[in-house]
Amino acid sequence: LGPHISPGFAMNFPKNIIKLQELTREQLSDLFSLADNIRENQEKYRHSLDGLVMAAPFYENSTRTRWSFEAAMRRLGGNVIDFAGPEGTSIMKGETLSDTIKMASGYSHVIVLRHKYDGAAELAREVSNIPVLNGGDGKNQHPTQTMLDLYTIKRELGSIEGKKVAIVGDLRYGRTTHSLLIGLSMFNAKATLVSPPTLKMHEKHKRTAEQVNPKFKYQEETSLDKALWDADVVYMTRIQKERFPDQQEYEKVKHAYVFRKEQLEKLDQKSIIMHPLPRVDEIAYEVDKDPRAAYFRQAENGLYTRMALLQKVLGEREQ
Ligand code: NCD
Repeated sequence: LGPHISPGFAMNFPKNIIKLQELTREQLSDLFSLADNIRENQEKYRHSLDGLVMAAPFYENSTRTRWSFEAAMRRLGGNVIDFAGPEGTSIMKGETLSDTIKMASGYSHVIVLRHKYDGAAELAREVSNIPVLNGGDGKNQHPTQTMLDLYTIKRELGSIEGKKVAIVGDLRYGRTTHSLLIGLSMFNAKATLVSPPTLKMHEKHKRTAEQVNPKFKYQEETSLDKALWDADVVYMTRIQKERFPDQQEYEKVKHAYVFRKEQLEKLDQKSIIMHPLPRVDEIAYEVDKDPRAAYFRQAENGLYTRMALLQKVLGEREQ
C-alpha cells in the first residue's frame, strides 16, 4: 500500500487521505460502519475529539466540503481555525502553500486542504507533520467526496457491489468523478462514463481504476438517455467552467446534459439520482421532489462520513 500508511493508527487506517487508491475496500467499509454508528449514537461521540484543532485552508470556493468538515469537527468536540479563503491571510502577501501548511501543522492536529492545483495535497503531505486530508486538488481527485458517495450508494441501495453507475457530465475536469471511478472499481461496481467527446475522462484515472481491480468493467457513452435504462445510480456533475482554459470551449458544452422529468420516466423506480453539488442546470428543480432524487441526502451523508474520517484519523490514535 505504499509508505504513507501509518502502522501507528488503529485498524491500520491511513494517516493522510490524498488519493482514493491509497485506501482499501476494507478500510472504506470500516469507515461506513463507523459513520452509521456515529449517526445512531451521536451523544457517545460528542467529546471524542475534545481539545483537538482542525485547520481547513480552502484556496477554492466550497460550501458542502468546508461546512460539513467544520460541523463534523465541532460535533465531535473539536475546534476549527477559521479560514474562509486566502483573503485576510499572508497568502495575499505571497506566502507559499508549503509555508502555510507548515504553519498550520504547528497550530493544529489535522489539515483539510482544498486547492486549485492538481497535486497540492501531495505537496502538503510532504511538508506537514500532521495528517492531511485532500478536500479537492484541482481537476485531480476529491477522495472524501467519494467516501460519502459510496456510503450513499450503500445506504440507499443496500450494497455497492455489482451496481451500475452512470457518471455523467464533465469527466475531464470534474475531480469527484475521478476518485468515484476508482472507488466503484474497488467495490466491483460497473460504470458507464457519459460525456461529450471533448470531456472524456483522462486515461490515467481509468488505468488507476483498472489497477485497483483488474476485473473492473466500464463503458463510455455520449447519450444520457441510453445510459439511463439499466442504471442503478445516475451521478450527474457540473461542467467545471472555471477549469476550462478556453471559455469558448465551455460555451459549447455548458448545457450538455440536463436531467428532467422525461429522464425520470426512463429511470427504474428503484434507481437513484446523485450529484456532488453545486448544480447549475444539470438537474431540473422539478426532479427534486421525486424520492429517487438522493442528492440532498447524499450531502447530509457528508457530515457523518467526515465525522467518521476525523474520528479514524484523530480519535483512534495510539496514545
Ligand atoms: C465538487 C468539487 O468541489 O469538486 N463539489 C463538492 O465538493 N461537493 C463538485 C463541483 O464543484 O462541481
